[in-house]
This record gives sequence, structure tokens and C-alpha cells, in this order.
Amino acid sequence: MKRRTVFVCRECSHQESRWLGRCPQCGAWNTFQEESLSASPTPQPGSPKSSSGGISIPLAALDPQEGTRWDTGLAEVNQVLGGGLVRGAGILVGGEPGIGKSTLLLQLAAQVKTAGRVLYVSGEESAAQIKMRSERLKIHRDGLEILIETHVPVILGVLEKIKPTVLILDSIQTLYSPDAGDVPGTVNQLKFGCQEILSWTKEREIASFLIAHVTKGGLIAGPKLIEHMVDTVLMFEEAAGDVRILRAAKNRFGSVDEVGLFTMEEHGLVEVANPETVFLVRREGDLPPGIAVAPLFEGSRTLLVEIQALTVPAKGGLSRVYSDRIDSGRVSRVAAVLEKTTGVRFSDHDIYVNVAGGIRVADPGADLALAFALYSARTGQSLPPGWTSAGELSLAGEVRPTTHLRRRVKAAADLGFSPTIIPASPEAGSLAGAIPVHRLSEALKKVWGKA
Ligand code: TYD
Ligand code: MG
Repeated sequence: MKRRTVFVCRECSHQESRWLGRCPQCGAWNTFQEESLSASPTPQPGSPKSSSGGISIPLAALDPQEGTRWDTGLAEVNQVLGGGLVRGAGILVGGEPGIGKSTLLLQLAAQVKTAGRVLYVSGEESAAQIKMRSERLKIHRDGLEILIETHVPVILGVLEKIKPTVLILDSIQTLYSPDAGDVPGTVNQLKFGCQEILSWTKEREIASFLIAHVTKGGLIAGPKLIEHMVDTVLMFEEAAGDVRILRAAKNRFGSVDEVGLFTMEEHGLVEVANPETVFLVRREGDLPPGIAVAPLFEGSRTLLVEIQALTVPAKGGLSRVYSDRIDSGRVSRVAAVLEKTTGVRFSDHDIYVNVAGGIRVADPGADLALAFALYSARTGQSLPPGWTSAGELSLAGEVRPTTHLRRRVKAAADLGFSPTIIPASPEAGSLAGAIPVHRLSEALKKVWGKA
């Protein structure tokens, strides 16, 4: 019998009947892999098992222990997870090679506060390499078991034998399941292996961390394919200098706004003690034009960040926005509102926007500072040192209320920044060091005395 095959893109799972050099769906090169479509269909990953045995339970009788969380031993990780590690949770940890995923998870493995055993499965490194890392990190823990293995059935066998409470799998890209075709590293292998492990760990309430490599440029290779199988997706990324950010891209047990901050040191990852200031550039004297500081709200903490803008006349009349830390659609919108409000033209200029330290800014409260940075860049007038702002802009040029104003103003003041321009509200008037405004034009007037 002729084996039927199909070619699947490793990046996005797009299928073609023949090999192509470039994926028509995601544009990636050399990502097609041949996979067999055997006559008996490939076993479907995780064919659903009955979890209830056909018995319903009255709400009042549900086990309240169900949602109990463990302290991971790392406060920043607890915060990102939404208050600790949920029993039985499946957590994907993605990040570029070398960012520190193995280091983070080995530290966690040694510190997580569970009574049971912790199993660290590595398909990436040898026992000697892991031993060397653990010595460098100076970690000891009774009940931390290391398994160097890639075969899924063998991993499941060990899980069955030692019954850990936490599993760490480094990495999903090395999993090999004999039931999912002959070639290791295929899309099928990845999906099937992860599903087998996850359905196993779920059933036995083992919390599992699945490490996944993410290719440069943020394209999620394997992880995209298994995102839906896990409860939480964490991304480990590089920010300012040696600062690493851990953020949740999906979290069934908490908010996705939290960030955890670490620095990579000689003896492993260290939690950042003063996160408010890690992204702040300390400057003496006057600011250059194009710079505005904002107290932003990321998850449950305030961070002071510096937004930088540069405008240059557009060649050929076609203006463009270059901004990868703040959504460029948002930059265009704020520039359009500024142009409409002040008459200063942005539409014939190229706009570059950056955020110092490389943190991505999603907080809507950054609109006002972004407007200040753009206006300052375009007119060549600097902001007075120490001034900050927080507020959302409407298309009509109003400064709209934003969350946690009191905490933002306080965080700025604690770090020596004052005043903070904020949206007018009954509360705003009572905040020391705050200047409440209703409209963007009014805000610009407060700073530059005109506009
Ligand atoms: P690693 O955890 O191996 O990254 P990943 O698993 O994401 O590929 O760590 C990568 C880098 O961190 C490596 O280049 C060495 C550095 N490092 C330190 O600076 N200090 C340390 O204590 C450790 C263990 C690693
Ligand atoms: Mg690693």
C-alpha cells in the first residue's frame, strides 16, 4: 500500500500536498516537513476520556481544595501565575534560546513549596550539564528528580513510578512519541507528545511546565500548536540590559497583565527588587525633545517608563510609523488627534517611537505621554524635567479617565517625579502633585503654556 503523505509547515501547521520552499500562509522559509497520513488515521491526540464517570456532583459538595495554589518559591512567578501554582495546571513557558528558561525552571524546581516530588525531564541537556547548572545555582532539594529522556512512553512510565506533584519538561520540541510517526521533531510529534503528557498530568493533578523554544522575531514555532491544550502560556523575554520579563499571554487562573522581572546574574535569575525604576532612564538636567515619562500600570504594579519619539519629514509625501513597543496604529491615532488639536502636521512626517528598556506598552494610560513625546519631538520643545502624565485620549481630543490614578501619581512622586498630568475627575482634584485636565489642548497648555 502506498503511504500517503502531506507537507506541514512547522510554524503555522499549514498543509500542502507537495513540498514548498516558502509557506503561503505565514511566509516562513524551509518550514515544510513531510508527515505520513497512514491508512489507519494517526491516533488523535488526547482522545477524550471520561473524567466524571457519568456522575454529577452538587455544587456544595465540590472539593474546595481543587483550586489550592502552591508557592513556587519565586514571588515574581507567583504573581504572573495569578497567585501561585494551581494543582494540575498545564503551563507553557516560551522564549528564545538562551533567554534563561532552563535556569528559571530549575530554580523553581528546587524552590516550589510542594510536599511531593518534582520531576525535571530534559531532552536538551546531559545529566552533567544539569548538574553543573545546579551547582552554579547552588540549589539542593530532596525529592528533585532528573530524567534525561525524550521518549514519551518512557516519561509517562517514570511519572507513574515516582508520582511527582510538579513536572518540568525541557523542552517540548525534543519529545518523541513512537505512535505519532517515525520522524522526531514534526508537528505531529509535538502535538501528540504534549497531549499525551498533559492528559496524564491533568488526570493525576500534576502541575506541569512545558518549555518551548520560540524562534527569533517572536514567531512561535511549536507553542502556537499547543496553546489551546494548556491553561497558561508564559513568555520569557529580554528587556532592558540583562532584565528578563516573564509575562502571561494566556492565563486561565489569573490576569494576563502581570509581569515578573528578573536579572540574569552569575548565580542564576534574581528577582528585581525595585521594579518601578528598571525601565527608567535617569537623566540630569534638561530633557532632550521627544521624551516623556509615564507611570504605567502593568498588572498590579506601576512602572515608570520613558517614551521616546522622533519625527522626520517623510520622503515622497508618504509618511510611516515605526514603532514596535507601542502598537503603531495607536501611534498614528494619537498623532492624528494631535494634528487635529494643534494644527501641527504629523501626516507629512515619518514617526519613530521607542520605549526605553524595550518593554512593550499596552496600557491605554500611556496615550497622554505618547502625545507629549510626539509633540515635543515635532516642535523641538522639551518637557520640563520631572513632569509625567497618565491618561487615555479620545478621538475628540479629550483626556479620558484611566485606571489606578492615585497609585500612578504616588509612584511617580515616590521616585521624585512631579507633577503628573491626569484626567480630571472628582478624585483627581484631591491628589497632591496632580494636575487634572479635561482636554489634550489644556494638557499641552499646562506644559508649554500655549498650543
Ligand atoms: P538557559 O537557562 O540555558 O537558557 P534557555 O534554557 O532559555 O535556552 O540560560 C542561558 C544563559 O544564561 C546562558 O547563556 C548562561 C546564562 N546564565 C547565567 O548568566 N547565570 C547562571 O547562573 C546561569 C545558570 C546561566
Ligand atoms: Mg534550555
